[in-house]
Amino acid sequence: MANPQPPRSLTQAMLVRTIAIVLLALIILVGLSVLIIWLAVRPKRLVYTVEEGSIHGFNLTQNNHLNATFNFVIRAYNPNTKISIYYDKVEAYVFYYDETVAFTTVDPFFQPRRNVTHLGLNLMARDAALEGAAAKDLRLKKSSGEVELDIRVKAKIRFKVGVWKSRHRTLRILCSPTMVHFSSSKGFKRTYCDVDL
Ligand SMILES: *[C@@H]1O[C@H](CO)[C@@H](O)[C@H](O)[C@H]1NC(C)=O
Ligand SMILES: *[C@@H]1O[C@H](CO)[C@@H](O)[C@H](O)[C@H]1NC(C)=O
Ligand SMILES: *[C@@H]1O[C@H](CO)[C@@H](O)[C@H](O)[C@H]1NC(C)=O
Repeated sequence: MANPQPPRSLTQAMLVRTIAIVLLALIILVGLSVLIIWLAVRPKRLVYTVEEGSIHGFNLTQNNHLNATFNFVIRAYNPNTKISIYYDKVEAYVFYYDETVAFTTVDPFFQPRRNVTHLGLNLMARDAALEGAAAKDLRLKKSSGEVELDIRVKAKIRFKVGVWKSRHRTLRILCSPTMVHFSSSKGFKRTYCDVDL
């Protein structure tokens, strides 16, 4: 009752095996190329710090509406020797008590390799409504002379290596806490930011 396999299905099996081996070899080759490219490019972390910060025209009304202008200088450092960066869309926020009090955008720019770029941010709070607790605390901070703020930056960036450009990625920068004096005569202490990419 034995039903010997016809030679046709044998050659089919060999074909399947050959395809599997070729696919495996391709996968290994691709993996190796990725590794070699990675070793050649050696991506390094981007570094962001807040170098200057000041508050102008501060006015917090009885009904907890805030007017103020926040000025910050953020230093963006790209330490990479092979990667340059397109910043296509950049948004910056000042947060207080997890609420946005001021917002601005930064013009798109290109950052070459091994480059330091200083970004001047001018963020305005115009009749920004604060919660009771936040407003109360901000009044205390005003009389104490300094306040802790969070600066958040969200950017759409692309990497460029040689002629190759990556897809868009979202870069999130958090500079917290950033201590700012209400009086401009006091110096500003550099703040190091966390980067999420
Ligand atoms: C704050 O704004 C209110 C209403 O516009 C004004 O009456 C007050 O003088 C302002 N205070 C300061 C310190 O500018
Ligand atoms: C805040 O600024 C807006 C627009 O400039 C103005 O109408 C408002 O009176 C200001 N409020 C305070 C408290 O200064
Ligand atoms: C960083 O790149 C910008 C834009 O190309 C350029 O204007 C600036 O001089 C560069 N800075 C340094 C330190 O190379």
